Amino acid sequence: MNYIENLAKAIEKQTGLTAAEVAGMIEVPADETMGDFALPCFKLAKTLKKAPPVIADEIANGMALPEGFKSFSVVGAYINFFIDPVAFIADVLKASGEEGYGGSDEGQGKNICIDYSSINIAKPFHIGHIMSTAIGNALYRIYNYRGYTAIGINHLGDWGTQFGKLCYAYEAWGNKEDVEARNIDALLALYVKFHDEADKDDSLNDAAREWFKRIEAGDEYAVSLLDWFTEITLKRVNKVYEMLGVSFDYYTGERFYNDKMQPIVDELDAKGLLTESQGARVVDLESYSMPPCIIIKNDGTTLYATRDLAAAFYRKKTFNFYKALYVVAYQQNLHFSQWFKVVGLMGYDWEKDLEHVNFGMVALEDGTISTRKGRVVFLEDVLNKACEKTAEIIEIKNPGLENKTAIAKQVGIGAVVFSVLSQGRIKDVTFTWDRVLNFEGETGPYMQYTAVRCNSLLVRGADLLNETPDFSALDNDEAFKTAKALDRFPSAIETALAKNEPYLITRNIIDVAKAFNKFYFEHKIIDENKAASAARLALAKAVKNVITTGLYLIGVETPEKM
Ligand code: ARG
Repeated sequence: MNYIENLAKAIEKQTGLTAAEVAGMIEVPADETMGDFALPCFKLAKTLKKAPPVIADEIANGMALPEGFKSFSVVGAYINFFIDPVAFIADVLKASGEEGYGGSDEGQGKNICIDYSSINIAKPFHIGHIMSTAIGNALYRIYNYRGYTAIGINHLGDWGTQFGKLCYAYEAWGNKEDVEARNIDALLALYVKFHDEADKDDSLNDAAREWFKRIEAGDEYAVSLLDWFTEITLKRVNKVYEMLGVSFDYYTGERFYNDKMQPIVDELDAKGLLTESQGARVVDLESYSMPPCIIIKNDGTTLYATRDLAAAFYRKKTFNFYKALYVVAYQQNLHFSQWFKVVGLMGYDWEKDLEHVNFGMVALEDGTISTRKGRVVFLEDVLNKACEKTAEIIEIKNPGLENKTAIAKQVGIGAVVFSVLSQGRIKDVTFTWDRVLNFEGETGPYMQYTAVRCNSLLVRGADLLNETPDFSALDNDEAFKTAKALDRFPSAIETALAKNEPYLITRNIIDVAKAFNKFYFEHKIIDENKAASAARLALAKAVKNVITTGLYLIGVETPEKM
């Protein structure tokens, strides 16, 4: 039903304007008690040569209420219109109860490269990584749901002088069994030890550089060490990706671009963009109020930015992306602004299709997270703790539940992801267990619980689902508000995609759950009136569908029972 169009057509004659012009004047009042739509009549005063309140009065009383509307009221210069809730609810429930609601094929044939999680080899997969991982995974799902082809890339940090240090440390103090057994923990310990020792003896740094040169030169043994470090890191982090239900299409890291940088450097050179600065070769960005983008260091080696440039050209050539997103913390704002600008200066208009999807920091309630000196909080531990705490809660609330462990996992991990994706990404996040795992507040468990509640209603009322629903049973404020929230789901997805802000979906399903739970507490769902019960169950079905779909889109599973 197109309410605004219907309304505009009913009013146009009296205003002397076209229906489209009238449609442009119609507003949605912020306060719901002031109607579902309103027409302010101030602008009409000039042409109609009457006071706005008089105009409002005349138009309102001279019109026939169009289809979908129930009543109007005139308040000063405004005409407020109220839609027919029952017709609206029936309409909304038809659409929102169906699979695929809010999805579309608008993105057909368009590739979206999403660079997310992008962990560093031999470094802990820590709590801070939840942001990039969760946001990127959500965007991956959202783009696919709108018909795009998302391409998930884990741009591994698997290149750089730190691997020379690690090789040195392993050769000097490491042992194979320990690294196999404790993997990342053992490598981190070696790395920390290297720094402690190098503080005392600077020659270690030279030795480490030699090791990295061996890697660069393709020395078989040195390369095999790097391969091994990569393999054991991925084995460990893949367990976490599995817990989170996250996957990637490519694990092409910085190393992959090692042989793809030279053509870019040559092109920069040919286009006269490189200048010398203290022995380094840089692209000057002073006119853009940024420090120069360093392409080649004074010792001849390349940098993180050089590899990002090579990666962008590779992605453009390979995937001809419609957009390339980089889900990386705001600490790297400058880095991305710099090399995006370099792409533009090279004359490529697809600079505009590169987007840094940045986000804030994560901290636990007992303090911030530090990656230096080994004081790290592993994401794996946080997720395990969430599952354990959830299992304890289930033990108290519902000890007889089947599949307790699997459900504790869905709820516990879902709670962590949900909490990360329940506010704008640029804000810093602090984890508070009580809040994250609360079954009442704006939390993952609360959403899941609401979907489970709908599910058990649907199971109980299964034989009523074939009845023709009597939607007049939903003529109440609670059902109306629930339907309005359900109706906003598609536009929440659209905006979430346009702004790369998954939390807009989270907010919408929170509204749905809150409104429905009010309805649930005020109204008996299944009673002896079959047609009325069928209508209430249709509401539960739509709520379950929207919450489940919304949770899926942000990367959270919904259990059948809990
Ligand atoms: N590995 C990097 C880090 O941990 C993030 C990489 C992000 N992606 C990129 N294409 N630069 O800081």
